[in-house]
Amino acid sequence: MGIVNWIDLPIRADERGSLVVVESGKSLPFEVRRVYYIFGTQSGVSRGFHAHKVLRQAAVCVSGRCRIKLDDGKESVHVWLDSPNKAIKIDQMVWHEMDEFSPECVLLVFADDHYEETDYVRNYEKFLEIVEE
Ligand code: TYD
Repeated sequence: MGIVNWIDLPIRADERGSLVVVESGKSLPFEVRRVYYIFGTQSGVSRGFHAHKVLRQAAVCVSGRCRIKLDDGKESVHVWLDSPNKAIKIDQMVWHEMDEFSPECVLLVFADDHYEETDYVRNYEKFLEIVEE
């Protein structure tokens, strides 16, 4: 499996507009224990700059767009999150950075566990050491 894994979220569109469904164990390959979202991001800002030791996440721009960099220590890829029914998986030990947030961007993130600071690897050199082990 490569580093870029998209999740197509089912979309129900009719003359009224659109509805997107996110279900644990169906479109999302894990049980969701936490949801958070990032919005009102100032121009020129980059966020993230970490990897998680065990946490699994999926991210989708429900409004606007942003760019995400995924890096597993061997390969580094930039992709755009620009569709409200296209989420990207952020697997364990994938360094990620987000930038190029549009003013209306709302980046919604699903996580399989609660917030735990000890699960973060925030130093890139340390991240490389761990993935090269
Ligand atoms: P931060 O890790 O800096 O966000 P990002 O990686 O997207 O740049 O998180 C910002 C603040 O929010 C920081 O004080 C930690 C806190 N936080 C929580 O309390 N719970 C959460 O679920 C998340 C993701 C962050």
